[in-house]
Amino acid sequence: MDLGPAAFPVAEQACRVIESAAVGQRYHRLLLDAPELSARSRPGQFFHLLCRDSAGNGPYLRRPMSIWRCGPDQPLGFLLHVKGKGTAALAALREGDRLSVVGPLGQGFRLDPRWRRILILARGVGLATLAPLTGAAAALGIEVQAVLSARSPDDLMAEEFAGTSGARITPVFDSDGSSEVPRVEALLRERFALERPNAVFTCGSNRLFLLLQRLAAEFGIPGQVALEQQMGCGLGMCFCCVRQVRDAAGRVVNLRVCAEGPVFDLQAALAW
Ligand SMILES: Cc1cc2nc3c(=O)[nH]c(=O)nc-3n(C[C@H](O)[C@H](O)[C@H](O)COP(=O)(O)OP(=O)(O)OC[C@H]3O[C@@H](n4cnc5c(N)ncnc54)[C@H](O)[C@@H]3O)c2cc1C
Ligand code: FES
Repeated sequence: MDLGPAAFPVAEQACRVIESAAVGQRYHRLLLDAPELSARSRPGQFFHLLCRDSAGNGPYLRRPMSIWRCGPDQPLGFLLHVKGKGTAALAALREGDRLSVVGPLGQGFRLDPRWRRILILARGVGLATLAPLTGAAAALGIEVQAVLSARSPDDLMAEEFAGTSGARITPVFDSDGSSEVPRVEALLRERFALERPNAVFTCGSNRLFLLLQRLAAEFGIPGQVALEQQMGCGLGMCFCCVRQVRDAAGRVVNLRVCAEGPVFDLQAALAW
């Protein structure tokens, strides 16, 4: 089942904020009243957001943000790590404010309805990108196992990740050393041997991406990775978001994260 791509043309829309709330110390969630956009959004796609607070202050360039919540009769949701002036302006929005969005954009994750089990390896705000995959997999009867890596239990956001999907979560933390690559590798090797997934997915950490790419190749398991890159237009025109990826013949080519991505084949993507 192809969970993308977006149907062009995309248009700018000013959507009403229906919820704006802090999540822990560093994250923020925004829910928008955008039924038509939410219904045609797919896990792994993103929107380009104009980051202006209610006083109109914020940077000129839009910021790309993964779809965190979407679907028929659901608000359109984003989960953001507040790190600079764009995300700070988004976090300053209040219920009733309007947010200009362009999307849904890019190529989302692909799920095969014949699969029985998938494994997700996510860190930090990569959780936001991978979260809607849990619901989409559950709707197809696919079991989701997730290894979530965070600095400490306070940063985990397990509920924000799994929602009501029933995903089985194994947390690993920097604070107790369980997120160190050799320990995550041992955990994944055990999983792959006992409960082999049909596919693996990752986002949010270069070192975890490299680990999963290596293990998936060794075990012959297909995978997908959602890449990030700073963006200009978000629409495929400026080429400021290119990343190096291997094509089917093994040649290194430059592809646009906003148009050919952000989701790429796990073995095709190159480390950053
Ligand atoms: C397809 C896509 C989906 C994304 N989804 C999410 C999401 O769901 N939640 C979320 O919190 N963030 C997400 N991001 C990252 C988000 O776009 C950036 O964090 C945001 O643009 C930062 O804007 P700012 O103005 O707050 O910070 P800035 O002041 O612009 O930047 C703060 C710091 O972050 C760095 N930075 C900015 N943009 C990026 C980027 N794209 N990749 C890596 N580093 C960057 C800057 O170099 C700087 O060091 C996504 C990025 C992409 C490309
Ligand atoms: S951001 Fe302009 S081409 Fe991708």
